[in-house]
Amino acid sequence: MHIESAAIDPALRCPEPDERPDLWPRQTTRTDEGTLVIGGVEASSLAEDTPVYLWDTTDFAGRARKWKAAMDEAFGCGYGLSGAQVHYAAKAFMCVRAARLAAEAGLGIDTASEAELVAALSAGVEPGLIGLHGNNKSVGEIDRAIEAGIGRIIVDSLSEIDLVAARARELGAREVPLMVRVTSGVHAGGHDYIATAHEDQKFGLALSGPARDAAQAIAADPHLRLVGLHSHIGSQIFSLDGFAEAAARLLDLLADLAAEGIAVPEVDLGGGYGIAYTGADPVPPGPNEIANELARAVKEAADARGIAVPRISIEPGRSIAGPSQVMLYTVGTIKRQPIGEGLTRTYVSIDGGMSDNIRPALYGAAYTATLANRRPAGPWERCRVVGKHCESGDIVVHDVILPADIRRGDLLAVPAVGAYGHSMASNYNMAARPGVLEVAAGEWGWVVRPETIEDVLARDVEAHA
Ligand code: LLP
Repeated sequence: MHIESAAIDPALRCPEPDERPDLWPRQTTRTDEGTLVIGGVEASSLAEDTPVYLWDTTDFAGRARKWKAAMDEAFGCGYGLSGAQVHYAAKAFMCVRAARLAAEAGLGIDTASEAELVAALSAGVEPGLIGLHGNNKSVGEIDRAIEAGIGRIIVDSLSEIDLVAARARELGAREVPLMVRVTSGVHAGGHDYIATAHEDQKFGLALSGPARDAAQAIAADPHLRLVGLHSHIGSQIFSLDGFAEAAARLLDLLADLAAEGIAVPEVDLGGGYGIAYTGADPVPPGPNEIANELARAVKEAADARGIAVPRISIEPGRSIAGPSQVMLYTVGTIKRQPIGEGLTRTYVSIDGGMSDNIRPALYGAAYTATLANRRPAGPWERCRVVGKHCESGDIVVHDVILPADIRRGDLLAVPAVGAYGHSMASNYNMAARPGVLEVAAGEWGWVVRPETIEDVLARDVEAHA
């Protein structure tokens, strides 16, 4: 008896693009023959290129523009509000094209490493719209940020303030713009490892004292300029309450600093806005709903403390990049493994795995999958989609209903891989990392080319590929 013959939960079927448009790039459809079409490109024409991240750049740019418009509208300079800025969090998915598309949509770029910073600069992003994060920035990263004249270095410790001040003196820079990363104590997000504002973790300066010390130290140093307070409470968050609470707590500090004569013009509320990965996830709130709620909460908190509303910025990553990419795999081995009590589990192996999507193994993240080369139809079978790596935890989709006639050579599409898929990919088992193929208006082309075996072996000084 297959697991299939125990009742099949229809919620385990991957929603078609017209059933749950929020899971897929906006233009995703199927042809009359049943092939999945992403960015106007038929998946079956890309069979030779799997595994591959298909990136609908029109969708990515559209989401970026939507955030920008929503924040501009909610925080427009009416109603006592002082404007807003959106920074795309590059860690979700970064390449020069991503930075350029985000900048063209009017967004700044939030970077967290020297290479992300260099990619943003090479995309031509205005330095004033670039930020640099990190709890342990190197001197090289700090120097590059100062020399490029970026808009804000988000400092994460008291010693880092001394370090930046010393580098600013050395480089002859004045008024290097700094934000203070504040740990608000608000804990939100799906998994402990991606929740970042509770006290017992490595990020930020506690609201209870160190954050104020940091603001005072910056304000007192002529080489530095305090441009804001920063909070990031976690990731994959659906409820907006945590953001409102964090904003209120940061405004307490802002009011205290104002009373000491230290002006803080901006508060950044970070990223963390959740997306749906499977049909079991609720449809998340969109940028308009989020921006309006943030504006309401910030205004209420500022009024209650008798202070002006600061300029507000946010750093969405996942909600811009996530739904814009679909992973395309080719099905290989299919096995029906006996698992006891007369049941079998169907393992569908694909030509990628935990090296292109570590999230299921790392966080227990749920994904779903559907046939891309033909229309999925019953009879159905409950399956587990697994990769080709030497690890039993190499699972891409724990539980999904696929057509029982699924076979070697079929194409499988996994939606919503655009955030923290490519950016967390590895060379485990010396796998060549897949490329990112732009699909837009029926055209396709590499944005990030796939790695070759030569690339993988290139740093091994004794290898001859
Ligand atoms: N700003 C800061 C300071 C951050 O640390 C992050 C994410 C973001 C913005 C963007 O958050 P988003 O809007 O993408 O949720 N690898 C994990 C997520 C780690 C997030 C780290 N910081 C995952 O795959 O779920």
